[in-house]
Amino acid sequence: MTPESHPPTPDLPAGPDDDARPEPPPGCPAHGRGPGGLARLHESDDLKKLYENLRAEHGPVAPVLIHDDLPLWVVLGHAESQQLVRSPAQFCKDSRIWSALRDGLVKPDHPLMPHIAWQPMCAHAEGEEHRRWRGAIDTAVAATDFRSLRRHVNRSVQRVVNRFCEAGEADLVSQYAEHLPMAVMCHVLGMPDEYDDRMVQAARDMIRGTETAIASNAFVMAALERLTARRRAEPLGDFAGHLVSHPAGLTDEEVSQHLRVVLIAAYEATANLLANVLRQVLIDPRFRSQLNGGQMTVPQAVEQLLWDEPPFSTIFAYYAKQDTELGGRRIRKGDGLLFAPAPANVDPRVRPDPTADMQGNRSHLAFGGGTHECPGQDIGRVIAEVGVDALLMRLPDVELSVTEEELTFTESIASRHLVSLPVHFTPRPQQEITQAPSHENEAPARRDWQIGVNRPRGASVGAGAEAGAEAGVGGGGPATVAAAAAVPAQASAPDTGPASAVGPGSGGGPLPAGEPVPQRPVPPPPVAEAAPPRGAWQRFLRWWRGY
Ligand code: HEM
Repeated sequence: MTPESHPPTPDLPAGPDDDARPEPPPGCPAHGRGPGGLARLHESDDLKKLYENLRAEHGPVAPVLIHDDLPLWVVLGHAESQQLVRSPAQFCKDSRIWSALRDGLVKPDHPLMPHIAWQPMCAHAEGEEHRRWRGAIDTAVAATDFRSLRRHVNRSVQRVVNRFCEAGEADLVSQYAEHLPMAVMCHVLGMPDEYDDRMVQAARDMIRGTETAIASNAFVMAALERLTARRRAEPLGDFAGHLVSHPAGLTDEEVSQHLRVVLIAAYEATANLLANVLRQVLIDPRFRSQLNGGQMTVPQAVEQLLWDEPPFSTIFAYYAKQDTELGGRRIRKGDGLLFAPAPANVDPRVRPDPTADMQGNRSHLAFGGGTHECPGQDIGRVIAEVGVDALLMRLPDVELSVTEEELTFTESIASRHLVSLPVHFTPRPQQEITQAPSHENEAPARRDWQIGVNRPRGASVGAGAEAGAEAGVGGGGPATVAAAAAVPAQASAPDTGPASAVGPGSGGGPLPAGEPVPQRPVPPPPVAEAAPPRGAWQRFLRWWRGY
């Protein structure tokens, strides 16, 4: 495509003539167009369709307008999106360099101001500053024991489902998808007791920007500030504890602000993903039978929805640090660019058939990429996977109470939210939840677990489960059990370390460099004398899933 310039950024706002002209009616090609004939994203009632029209008209990078007719590029191509997020020398997320802001075109009450206003946090920072904040978050995420997390998510599922299981009907958006991620994230951050209806309501408010959003933000911040103070006094191994004790030396303000980013980003995205997967299971019998029949694992189902309905349709925004080129367009220093996973994930150059099954392929852009790529993606995946799997196990006959056409979405440039998901099922009694949640991150991860190999005769699966339950290896849905066979070889690898250090035999000296190291048989974990295995397959499944 011939390089051409973005329409002059500061000179476009509508003139008096434009204001006087009546708005063309819906259906007219000029409807939803602003100065220069550019599409107004914020006026579209069908953004998916608009993105496809823009792709056809402009190619992978299209000029558009947002509220107050501020010009912006929307990046529609998959490759161009990757280039955008992976070129920190050319593009950054520091809004202070945006021409529209520098030229005073952005009003203080602009609807996107919460995304536009620069804030001292990792999502807006670059370079050393970003590395400092992001390093603390990455350390906290890296300490996650994913097997314990899966178990905790399952317990949370049981608690949340207990609240409506006897009724035989529920709205899986407001009663389930919007609760589970908050219950889990409060636990992950280190404040399990703060999870309640009020916290869920406050997070909803903040995301929707209702008139009580400011009070809700104050409510959430107060809880996070209390948590920060508690961890400063007594550091524990939860997320907040890791932020407080990270060598970067974050201040209390930095810790509580980053806890807020994590809580709200995680809550909104995960609730959205969970609702989208459940909707697909309920509206598409083929999808559900593939899941039930094992042709598709729950993780694959989640990945499919991350392609089809990324929880954040777009991320506002990236800014050009210098004059450059993207997708054949000349981008000028200070131009703003909308990173847009929703249209980029259906770029025909990577998905010629948008209805095709992506089979667990993870190269979608739902988690972004480059230095700002979502650090919590595996936590989000676990909440969604267990949230779907455990719900379907608990309510296997759950069915939609309305037709697919009656399900509606609210849509903004940033995201698309399912409004409700009414279902019915056979009423069931509440389920006892025996184990109280704890701060499992503090438990030392054991590495000496194994499955199936070298297990002495008579050793029970249950005993193996004791070791495996602490190993922190991510699992999957039911069908991932098949993958278990591949695990022992990897899992026993660390044990070859000591063998190579001391050499073969007892008391042998170091091996000459390059000498092949004989594989020592891996000693089995200590096991209790086994009772005859009862329901061994079920217990194995429970152990493998982590719940
Ligand atoms: C399904 C769930 C999730 C989705 C789809 C999602 C998606 C995203 C996306 C698209 C970004 C922006 C990437 C960019 O700017 O290029 C992001 C950033 C971020 N996410 Fe997530 N996220 C999810 C869950 C989580 C969870 C569970 C956590 C915390 C444990 C988390 C913490 C963050 C943080 C701190 C950032 C900012 C990172 C930075 O700017 O360096 N997210 N996420």
